[in-house]
Amino acid sequence: MDTTKLTLEQKAALLSGQGQWRTHTYPEAGIPSIFLGDGPHGVRREVVEDYSKGIPESVPATCFPPAVAIGSSWDPEVAGHLGAALGREARAAGVDVLLGPGVNIKRSPLCGRNFEYFSEDPLVSGVLGSAYVRALQNEGVGASVKHFAANNQETDRMRISADVDERTLREIYFPAFERVVTEAHPATVMCSYNRINGVHASQHRWLLTDVLRTEWGYSGTVISDWGAVVDRVAALVAGLDLEMPGTGGLSAQNVVDAVRSGRIEESTVDRSVARVAELARLGNDEEQGTFDAPAHHALARKLAADCVVLLKNDNAVLPLEETTTIAVIGELAVTPRYQGDGSSRVNSTAVDIPLEEITALAGERGATVVHARGYSPTDAAEVARQADVAVVFAGTAIEAEGYDRTSLALPAEQVETIRAVAAAAARTVVVLNNGGVVSLEGWHDDVDAIVEGWLLGQAGGGALADVLFGVVNPSGRLAETIPLRLEDTPSHINFPGEAGHVRYGEGVLVGYRYYETVGREVRYPFGYGLSYTRFEVGDLAVAVTGPDAAMATVRVTNAGTRAGKHVVQLYVATDTGEVRRPERELRAFQKVFLEPGHSTDVTFDLDRRAFAYWDVTTGGWVVTGGAYRIQVGESSSTIVAEAGISLVGDPVIQELTMESTFGEWSAHPVVGAEFRQSMTRNLPAEQAADFEKANQDGLAMAAHLPMRSFTRAAPGLFSEETLEQLMKISRTVPVSQEGAQLPEVNA
Ligand code: BGC
Repeated sequence: MDTTKLTLEQKAALLSGQGQWRTHTYPEAGIPSIFLGDGPHGVRREVVEDYSKGIPESVPATCFPPAVAIGSSWDPEVAGHLGAALGREARAAGVDVLLGPGVNIKRSPLCGRNFEYFSEDPLVSGVLGSAYVRALQNEGVGASVKHFAANNQETDRMRISADVDERTLREIYFPAFERVVTEAHPATVMCSYNRINGVHASQHRWLLTDVLRTEWGYSGTVISDWGAVVDRVAALVAGLDLEMPGTGGLSAQNVVDAVRSGRIEESTVDRSVARVAELARLGNDEEQGTFDAPAHHALARKLAADCVVLLKNDNAVLPLEETTTIAVIGELAVTPRYQGDGSSRVNSTAVDIPLEEITALAGERGATVVHARGYSPTDAAEVARQADVAVVFAGTAIEAEGYDRTSLALPAEQVETIRAVAAAAARTVVVLNNGGVVSLEGWHDDVDAIVEGWLLGQAGGGALADVLFGVVNPSGRLAETIPLRLEDTPSHINFPGEAGHVRYGEGVLVGYRYYETVGREVRYPFGYGLSYTRFEVGDLAVAVTGPDAAMATVRVTNAGTRAGKHVVQLYVATDTGEVRRPERELRAFQKVFLEPGHSTDVTFDLDRRAFAYWDVTTGGWVVTGGAYRIQVGESSSTIVAEAGISLVGDPVIQELTMESTFGEWSAHPVVGAEFRQSMTRNLPAEQAADFEKANQDGLAMAAHLPMRSFTRAAPGLFSEETLEQLMKISRTVPVSQEGAQLPEVNA
C-alpha cells in the first residue's frame, strides 16, 4: 500500500464510499475496495445495488437473536459465539466490515431501535459489545461499534440535538463505547446521526478526536452512519475518516476545494486516507468459503434459549412436564415475531414455527397440542378449556428503525385474549415476543407464568419450546426495567424532545439508577429473572486492595434439583462525595453454570472506575474517600448480601477563591477552622466564644454568598492578607481521607 501514489482527487474520493456499501479501490497503490454490510445480528448483504423498486433483497443469512435478547443473556460467551458465527457468515458473503454491534443505552423503553441495543446499563452493554467485537474480528472481519453517541431515539434522529451534560455522557452514554474501543479495538466506530449539544456527531471534534482518539487511544477508522454527514469538510476536520455511502463525487470535490483554497491542510486529508487505506487491508475480492446453515441455525437456537427471561412461574406451572393437553393460542405461534425492521432485517435461512416446535416436544412426551389462531377471545377461551395448560403467544405488532413507539401497550385484542384464556384455562402461560418493553398491566395477575422471549431470531420458536418443556433451564435476566407505567420512566417528560432538542434531564439516573434512587415501584426490576432451580448466594468477603480498589468474593450454590445458570450481580453504593450518586450501580457481573448441589466462588476485581464519578470541575474521574457498600443483588432492587468498606480515595485540592462561598470557606477541610477563628480574632473573649451561636441566622444566610460579596458586606472583618494566605494554602494542600495537615498560618 502506497498512498503517496495517489493524487489529491483520488485521496479525497477514498474518503467517501463508492455507491452504497463499498469503498474505492486503487490497485496502483495496492488499496483494495472493501464491502461494509449490516449487522448487527445477521449479515444483510443486498444482492443488487438498485433502489428503484425499493430496498432489494439480501443474501440468505442466519438471523441470530437481536441485541435485546443477547443483553438478557448477561453472558459474554453468548455474545462471543454470536460474533464468531457472524464473522463466518460475513466472510462467506464477502462482507469485510459488519455494521455492529449497537451499544447505545436504552434511555426510554419507547426507542424504536431498542431491539438492536443491549441494555439500559453501560456495563452490560460494554461487556457484551466487547465480547462480540473480539470474536467477530478474530474471524478476520472488521466490526463497527455504533452509533457514537447519544443516539437514544429515532424521532427526528438526523437532526435532533441530544442535550446532555458531560457527567451523564461520561457515566452513562460513553462507557460501553469506551470499553469496546479500549478492550476490543474495533476496526471502525460509526458516528450517530444526531447532534450532541448542538453539534452533529459527524462533525463533533471533541467526540471523534479528543475523547475517542486522545483519551481512549483509538487508532481505527471513524465512519459515518449512512447519510449522517452534513458538511464533509467540517466532518473531516473533526476526525470523521470515511463518509458512507458515496455522494457521487460531491464530497470529494468539497474536500479538494477546501485544500486548494487553503481552508484545510492536505495533511488533514492524508491522515484520514491512511486510516481508510489501513481499513482496506480487510478487503477480500472473493467471497471466502461457505457457512454451515443448519449448524448456525442450531447455534441460534442454543443462544436464544440462554436469553429467555422467566418473569413469573406460580406453582411451578413451568416446565410443562406433567401436561397431557396443551392449548397454544395466538397468531404469533404460527407467524413468529423474531426480528425488527430496518437496516438490520435479515433474510433468514430458515424460521422455526413455535407451534411446530411445541408440538414436536409435546409429542415426545406423549402430550397433545390444540391450537387457536388469531386473537379472538371467544375462540381462544374455548380451545383453552380443552387443555390443562394454555400457552398464549403475545407481542408487539411491529418495531422498526426510523420511528419510536408511542405506548407500551400490547395490542388490545391480545390483552382481551389473554384475559379470556386466563379465565377459562386451568393454568395460563404467556409468552412474549417484543423488541422493546411492553406493559404487563391489566393481565399480569390473571396468569400463572410469563416468559419474556424478546425477539429471539430465526430459531426462537425452538428455543421457546426448549424453555417451556425444561430442555433448557431459563437463565436470562432483565437488562432493562419493566415499569408499571410509561409515566414512571425517568426520561418520560423529556422524550422525545421538542423544537429540535431533547433534554436528558434525568442525568445519570437512567433505568434502574432512577427507580432505585427515588424508590419508584416497578413491575420487574433490572437484573431480575427466575430459574427452574434455586440459587443461594452468601459468604460475601470484600478486601480493600488499594486507595481506590477492592476485591470481592462470593459463594454461589445451586440449592435446587436441576442444573442451571445464575448471574451474580455486584452493585456498589455510596453516599460519599459532593455529587448525587445513584442508589446503586452495577459494577461487575458473572454468569455461572452449576449442577444441583454444587457451589462455586466467584471473584470480582473492582478497579477505581467501580467507585468513581465524573467530576466536572476537574474534568476527570474521582474516587471520593469514604464508605462504600458492596452489594450482591438478585436484581437491582433485591440485595442478598452486603459488605461495607472504606476507601482512601483520591486526594483532592479544594481550591478557595474569592468566588468560593462563605460556606465553602467555613467548611474547607484544611483552612476552614482557621478561617472561622479569624472572624472573631478582634472580639473580646466572651463575645468570640458566643459568636457563631449569636450570629446563627446571619451566618446561614451568608453561606451562599461568594467571598467577593461577603467582604463588601462586612468590610474589615477579614484582613486581605489572611484571605490571600488561606487561598494559597488551599491551592497546594491535598485533602484525602487520611486528613491533611494545616501548615502554619501567619495571622
Ligand atoms: C443505520 C445504521 C446502518 C446503516 C446502513 C443506517 O440507517 O442507522 O445502523 O448500519 O443505515 O444500513
